[in-house]
Amino acid sequence: MPSPKYLDVDLPIDERVNDLLISMTPEEKIGQMTQVEKNSITPLEVANYFVGSVLSGGGGYPIVNSPEAWLEMVNNFQEAALRTRLAIPILYGVDAIHGHSNMYGAVVFPHNVGLGATRNEDLVEQIANATAEELSATGIYWNFAPTIAAPQDIRWGRTYEGLSENTELAATLGSAYVRGSQGERLDGTHSVLATPKHYLGDGGTSWKTSQIENFLLDQGDTRLDEATLRKIHLPQYISAIQAGALSIMPSYSSWNGLKLTAHKYLLTDLLKTELGFQGFLVSDWEAVPQLSPDYYLAVVLAINAGMDMIMVPFDYKLFISTLLKAVQLGDVPEMRINDAVSRILRVKMRLGLFERPLASPNFLSKVGSEAHRILARQAVSESLVLLKNKSHTLPLSKAIETILVAGKGADNLGMQCGGWTIEWMGIDGNQIPGTTILQGLRNKLSANTHIIYHPSARFSEDENRILALEKADVGIAVVGEMPYAEGVGDRDDLSLSSDDVELIRQLRPICHRLVAILISGRPMIITDVLPLIDAFVCAWLPGQEGEGITDVLFGDKPFTGRLPYTWPRRMDQLPFDFEHLYSDEQGPLFPFGYGLTADP
Ligand code: BGC
Ligand code: BGC
Repeated sequence: MPSPKYLDVDLPIDERVNDLLISMTPEEKIGQMTQVEKNSITPLEVANYFVGSVLSGGGGYPIVNSPEAWLEMVNNFQEAALRTRLAIPILYGVDAIHGHSNMYGAVVFPHNVGLGATRNEDLVEQIANATAEELSATGIYWNFAPTIAAPQDIRWGRTYEGLSENTELAATLGSAYVRGSQGERLDGTHSVLATPKHYLGDGGTSWKTSQIENFLLDQGDTRLDEATLRKIHLPQYISAIQAGALSIMPSYSSWNGLKLTAHKYLLTDLLKTELGFQGFLVSDWEAVPQLSPDYYLAVVLAINAGMDMIMVPFDYKLFISTLLKAVQLGDVPEMRINDAVSRILRVKMRLGLFERPLASPNFLSKVGSEAHRILARQAVSESLVLLKNKSHTLPLSKAIETILVAGKGADNLGMQCGGWTIEWMGIDGNQIPGTTILQGLRNKLSANTHIIYHPSARFSEDENRILALEKADVGIAVVGEMPYAEGVGDRDDLSLSSDDVELIRQLRPICHRLVAILISGRPMIITDVLPLIDAFVCAWLPGQEGEGITDVLFGDKPFTGRLPYTWPRRMDQLPFDFEHLYSDEQGPLFPFGYGLTADP
């Protein structure tokens, strides 16, 4: 039997797609539109239901969390798909939003907020590329990243996933990410499909409009007129599409009361027709059932609005039977199904999936490689923003005699990495490879410097005796936020915790110069403690390479980062009215773009 036309790589892709589409049964078509969470399906079921995509959500690692086990898990699903009649490969997807960070051993880069501070397009492109190398090494060619939201209210728990409140900066760096992930050719060995998200206006929701209990902004309603929506939230998508984006994730949020998941005007008329988006849309996790208590209606609404693939993610049998019925009853036109499936198949072909469905273990050495760690360390250095530097406190001299180190973030990789690290909500403590700030200090300083460390500044009797005789030369307080993700991180108060404030007060009298390092996904209220501090550094959520911080503290590298978000003085200033900001005491503590240099 001659091999079918759709496998002929010399034919134009549209011809291959049509050839495949005409031979597909309704079940095979709807299977392509189905994305299932990996613990909710077996490889055999992937084959039996012709499922087109499997995903790992936050924390979706295999039982043994190692690169080898990830590769095996993905290849097992893939082998099953390849045994079906038409042998259409699955597309496995994951949130590698700051590196392949659900996987133990992957390099964890700074979260987007830090990349926004670097203002460095080239660096973002390299990070996306390194992430794509680690993903493709484990057989994964699809990343639900980058988030190109322009978060307008930092009380939102996803602020750190955004590159900046500034549309232009989010657009520039977001497109750089798409280019870096997808490489020169989408079918290149290490090219990975990027997914700009969450379309449209996810970062513009109004306070307390979320229908999810305890959420304040996440998944809420973006209440803006169309011109403003287009001005603040759309340009990122225009640039991302120009950069080659071929999958986009619509948002859980609503625009003026109508959920994006069902928004035909924004999904079909604007994105696909007006902007000419050729790729496919993947719904967010369990977003479809939110549309109506009547699941049939919810599915009809989403598909007819223009959703092409549904992240079900659990009961895929119900989704498949429901959509089949909707097509049979004529509630979803067959043309809509053909359009959705063509879009998905086109991307699978452009990705070269039919030619490279199974990954070999050959590239596993890319995971956690020295080159990627160096890149992450550089990114950390470039992301630091210096807010205050009284009397040239920084850079520090390596010849200091005594240094006091304290704070819950000083020796905590989990806190450095933030949410979406191994677990959806992140982890606490040093459970993954990497270097904490404390370890960075130890590596940087010689045995001549006495490092006194206690996370909550409960120093030993001996240490207290030394400090009573003479103050430490330098104190370093590492304070900030513990990890969170999504609406769980929505806050009505961004003050430093009372423990952190107490720690700063306690360190102040026992050191000559006090440096504060803030580990957080967003600006916090520091107005009252700032006078107690000589040098204030925001490190955002830097990821695993704490030495990127110590490199800059000691002047081996310069401070170059600039604020990607406007910094409030008080909570009652939020949300900012960016068009009318005061520049005096009524205004922000630090403006967008602020950042000192520390010339020695
Ligand atoms: C998030 C998405 C993510 C998806 C899969 C959702 O809760 O909103 O950003 O891609 O889960 O993990
Ligand atoms: C998953 C995440 C997902 C979230 C949505 C979690 O259980 O791990 O990936 O984004 O649920 O609510």
